[in-house]
Amino acid sequence: MTGDVTDKHWPHEPSSIPRTGAPVHPGITQLSDALPRDRIQLGRAAPAKPQSFMPPWDYKTSTTGYYDRHAAEFCENTFTVDVSALYVPFLREMPEGGVIMDAGCGSGRDSLAFLRRGYRVVSIDASPEMVAAATKHAGQQTLLLTFDEIDFTDEFDGIWACGSLVHVARRDLHSVFTRFSRALKPNGVIYLSFKYGDTERMEGERFFNDMNEAALGLFLDGHPELELELVHLWITEDLRNRARGYQNVLNALVRRNVLSENAREAPAQAPL
Ligand SMILES: C[S@@+](CC[C@H](N)C(=O)[O-])C[C@H]1O[C@@H](n2cnc3c(N)ncnc32)[C@H](O)[C@@H]1O
Repeated sequence: MTGDVTDKHWPHEPSSIPRTGAPVHPGITQLSDALPRDRIQLGRAAPAKPQSFMPPWDYKTSTTGYYDRHAAEFCENTFTVDVSALYVPFLREMPEGGVIMDAGCGSGRDSLAFLRRGYRVVSIDASPEMVAAATKHAGQQTLLLTFDEIDFTDEFDGIWACGSLVHVARRDLHSVFTRFSRALKPNGVIYLSFKYGDTERMEGERFFNDMNEAALGLFLDGHPELELELVHLWITEDLRNRARGYQNVLNALVRRNVLSENAREAPAQAPL
């Protein structure tokens, strides 16, 4: 094991930040339990900055290689953390015994939690070592699949992507969300979380795509053909990371709203 693991960012713990009221963090204008979409004007109030960072061509293998090499330590740091507060808004949307994809499942902590609550779970991860760990922890086979390889249609009530889309470059997000949207049943929901920010960057061998509400709102608003609508947005704080300074996390619930044929039209200009 090395001492270099920075995964204490994930998973994150519920925030002590008040959910409503005055700004509590530069750049966060409003925190809310139920997203007042018309008031926040997502993606319009604070346009995303143009990106100058170009993710390296091998960012995916570099990132999953990191998880392969640090799987034991990553599991040690994350498997026992209680993130059950994050489940609440997501599981509220799940039918009893519904089918959940744990996308980028890591240690299998959340797969196990969902299985114990009576849901059916398909866990996937791109790192063979994390697949082995999650298979052991959850007590069922995890699939070795990258987000690019997901190929399901109308199968899932929910997709749980906790701290995993952070490793998808903005140029690749559309293709991954296309697969996610297709995998969901109509009205199915995705939970996703990102480190709060607006940059793409490398942190050692791992690629990170930090997102804020403006960037996520711009992306979803700009791609109606994905049929994904932001329904709930909240900020949490990675309390375990205090020693390194506060790290906020953007959490979102996104619903697949199937459009009528007439409403399906690609945007004139894709923002991300
Ligand atoms: C920060 S960890 C989060 C793990 C877990 N969801 C959690 O909350 O503890 C990111 C996980 O995503 C996986 N991952 C990274 N890139 C991926 C990709 N392109 N496709 C599928 N999984 C990926 C990694 O192997 C790792 O297990």
